[in-house]
Amino acid sequence: MDRRLRIISVASEVAPYSKTGGLADVAKGLPKALASLHHEVSIMTPWYSFMKSQHLTFADVSLRTVIVVGKIKYDVEVKRLPIRKNFNVYFLIIPKLFCKRSNIYGYDDDNLRFLVFNLSVLKVADLLGIKPHIIHCHDWQTGLIPNFLALKRKNYPTLKSTKTLFTIHNLAFQAGVDWWRIDKRHRDNGKGIPKTSARDLHAVNFTKRAIRYADMINTVSIRYAQEILTPEYGQGLERALQEREHDLYGIINGIDYAVNNPAFDTYIKYKYDQRSLDRKVRNKLLLQKEAGFEQKKDIPLIGVVNRLTEQKGFALIMETIEVLMRQQLQIVVVGSGQREYIQFFRNIARKHPKKIGIITPFTEEMASKVYAGSDIFLMPSRYEPCGISQLISMRYGSIPIVHETGGLSDTITNYNPRTGKGSGFVFRSYTSGDFLIALARAFETFGHEKAWEHLMRQAMRESYAWALPAKKYVTLYRILQKKKIRSKKYFS
Ligand code: GLC
Repeated sequence: MDRRLRIISVASEVAPYSKTGGLADVAKGLPKALASLHHEVSIMTPWYSFMKSQHLTFADVSLRTVIVVGKIKYDVEVKRLPIRKNFNVYFLIIPKLFCKRSNIYGYDDDNLRFLVFNLSVLKVADLLGIKPHIIHCHDWQTGLIPNFLALKRKNYPTLKSTKTLFTIHNLAFQAGVDWWRIDKRHRDNGKGIPKTSARDLHAVNFTKRAIRYADMINTVSIRYAQEILTPEYGQGLERALQEREHDLYGIINGIDYAVNNPAFDTYIKYKYDQRSLDRKVRNKLLLQKEAGFEQKKDIPLIGVVNRLTEQKGFALIMETIEVLMRQQLQIVVVGSGQREYIQFFRNIARKHPKKIGIITPFTEEMASKVYAGSDIFLMPSRYEPCGISQLISMRYGSIPIVHETGGLSDTITNYNPRTGKGSGFVFRSYTSGDFLIALARAFETFGHEKAWEHLMRQAMRESYAWALPAKKYVTLYRILQKKKIRSKKYFS
């Protein structure tokens, strides 16, 4: 019997072609790992005009189709990028909605754009005749695929036994519009086929519908899978999730060590691994110079590489900044994001130019230099579905300080000075008190050279390669494959 699975993985952003966050890395890393396990994998993602400059070489697919929403027709064309024999990326070109726009999101018609994209995915998947066992949908931008497939399965003859998995990467995002801004009276109940009048479409909650209609749901850590069942983390969808609790799983993400690795990173001057930590120090001295700080190996250098948003815990850093600036330390922040945070760090950097610097917008080059040059990596996220930066920081020997939440809690173990075990510093409650205690513990340990080196090696040895999570997904797909198709009646 052929045990190979046919999987279509759908996401709005896929690295390196399009990316605004960690979603894009997962949308490439997981399919790649699944293909290495010999499954037949196809990625489907929108074509954005900025991809023109990437000069990708496409194989021939003469597939064109039309999607009709309301009375408007949307032409759809497909480009196939072969990566390996069993691994293809299909770019769906929808000129009216996705071309001639310079960004991935942020338009008034985002709900319409992704509704049409979702319908196109189903149509194209059907026409290609791949007969996928699984359509794996990532985050809200793909949330109506399970909805349409469950209720309109007859329209897609080759998908008659296809199952859907919906992965939640961040529950805060449920549609093109912030869900809490939608007037309570108009909020989507998530049932039936979404209505497409302007007002209804504006209020469609893609994630809520995916939770209801997907055959199975998962999120990107075990801890976050539990957290989102509570009002504190559930973003208004905790009830919907509780109803699906038996179909809700957690699988931690991986990272690609061919890319995230100080032994090959082309952006850093002194490549290193756990056996050549003296070379890491040289990167630190270079970073200190570049940032305009004093060049001294004994001053703890703290790195922050993240999107500058509320989620990432910047409130704690802002609340404690005056205390921090009185310590012997240096901080480099790298990231793009909200203007208020950028302004805050710029002001502080002007006051304390020898202690803190901000590099914005985000660049891969500066991110690498900070991972390689810092001793401590700060990631006090208020909530964190999985988190990728803390995994990268460990491989670069920059010891993470994290809030005990979501994926941070699943991946970082608190350092215990008595046993010498652990990979970082974890604080329990999201308060400046707890946060400062974790920092103090880190500084204290940093002062003991031998203990710190031991901790660095331990963190660098941790492995979060994609191979393991990919196998877990295969297990999930197989459970899913055996599930019965739920009839339309089930949903009424
Ligand atoms: C989102 C989450 C982040 C996660 C990433 C990939 O960006 O906020 O925690 O690592 O998706 O799953």
